[in-house]
Amino acid sequence: MICVSKNESNLKSQNLKIKGKKILEGKVKISGAKNSALVLLAASLLTNEKVILNNVPKLSDIEKMKNILKHLGVKLNSNNANNLIINSKNLHIGDNLPFELVNGLRASFFCIGPLLSMLGEVTLALPGGCKIGKRPIDQHITGLRELGANIEVKDGFVNAKIQGKKKKLVGSKILLSCPSVGATETLIMAATLAEGRTVIENAAREPEIQDLCLMLNKMGAQIHGYGNSKITIDGVEKLSGCKHKVIPDRIEAGTFLIASAATLSNITIGPVIPNHLESVLETLKATGSKIFIKGNEITIKTKEIKAVNIKTAPFPGFPTDLQAPFTALMAIAKGNSEISETIYENRMGHVDLLNRMGASIQLVNNIAKIQGVDELKGQNLKGSDLRSTAALIIAALSAKDTSYIGGLEHLDRGYDCFESKLNILGANITRNFNEQIFFNQTIVDENISKNTEKFKAA
Ligand code: UD1
Repeated sequence: MICVSKNESNLKSQNLKIKGKKILEGKVKISGAKNSALVLLAASLLTNEKVILNNVPKLSDIEKMKNILKHLGVKLNSNNANNLIINSKNLHIGDNLPFELVNGLRASFFCIGPLLSMLGEVTLALPGGCKIGKRPIDQHITGLRELGANIEVKDGFVNAKIQGKKKKLVGSKILLSCPSVGATETLIMAATLAEGRTVIENAAREPEIQDLCLMLNKMGAQIHGYGNSKITIDGVEKLSGCKHKVIPDRIEAGTFLIASAATLSNITIGPVIPNHLESVLETLKATGSKIFIKGNEITIKTKEIKAVNIKTAPFPGFPTDLQAPFTALMAIAKGNSEISETIYENRMGHVDLLNRMGASIQLVNNIAKIQGVDELKGQNLKGSDLRSTAALIIAALSAKDTSYIGGLEHLDRGYDCFESKLNILGANITRNFNEQIFFNQTIVDENISKNTEKFKAA
């Protein structure tokens, strides 16, 4: 597949010109999961042998993580577009990781566990430059302290150091106050080389955590119970290299299913792991779509869109990362619906933007109260984060007339060749570079300056 340039410096001045009301049809290939690949890259630091990762998506977030690894002395090679050979034999942390490398990539913090285990001490900038409290990492830090690390947080940096002569973390019982995906992953990685047994209770159960444990066990780790809320890790002396294929991206898959429903289309997506999408598929069935599962492919056929209420929740609940795309679908549903965001306190930046396209949504205390409208109108808008940009694209696909959607610096973080894949399905989307029309017309991005840090979640 040919993708357009992803030169990040240009992304803020690019937009997608989307002619609405095109019916989608055919098959689309789902890429490897962003949230899995990011943590697997960090986990590869836990061995000085080669790790070969297949099905790595082409995303700007992955490029950022690769740059972080390179700065740590890691050699990265590939023999095809989606594979990475990672060699951490010369792992070191000479200087602190430059702020511009970790800024904006929350997943950069994943490196703390492996670096601590392998090197005994590490200093990292707080992810995204935000302070504890605003984008908390308290569960990561409390857990690492339970494992025996001495941690200081000062002036935007976290210094973590292993105490004692042995330079090993020590297994412990950790109860997370919320099932944080990132904290569960950080603590699993830190505990694999710790002395003795670690038990994490109230652990997150997301498929990306299962993928991480699967790969670590291939490397020789002893992790049990993943996929449940109690995970047990028996520390081992060392880990070896391995070959691992990143799981398909359930959020990308869900976004295509929602796009298909919003355009009253029939498409097939794959490969996917249908279990990972259970709550999404049940919700789409309730909205009136017909869903057919065959092996690792899902076909969706839609003739009507009924209003359905959802509440986001940790896996296996409805994913917060699909809340914005689903809001775009409910904007054109028959009837009234309510969408409650329970994971993030401020992830409703798309509501105002969808209203500018003619939606009728009222936001009350993180609940979007939606009165479905017959159709949306094409607009010039800019997404305020990754998933809100995807939501605007879905809205534009369903809308009458043409839309210009910006925010591609967010989109390309998490969707591999999004518009190319949609065009293969019959959409009419062109990416414009430095298109004057985009700057000459009203672009709604005031939410960005107000809430940038909070929106960096996905
Ligand atoms: C991961 C995903 C992101 C997804 C999110 C929830 C990656 C790279 N990103 O983010 O796409 O939206 O899971 O499914 O995998 N919290 C605390 N203290 C902490 C950590 C988190 O209070 O120490 C809170 C957060 O503020 C948030 C909630 O827990 O309200 C969920 O956060 P978490 O599960 O940690 O999300 P991430 O791992 O950052």
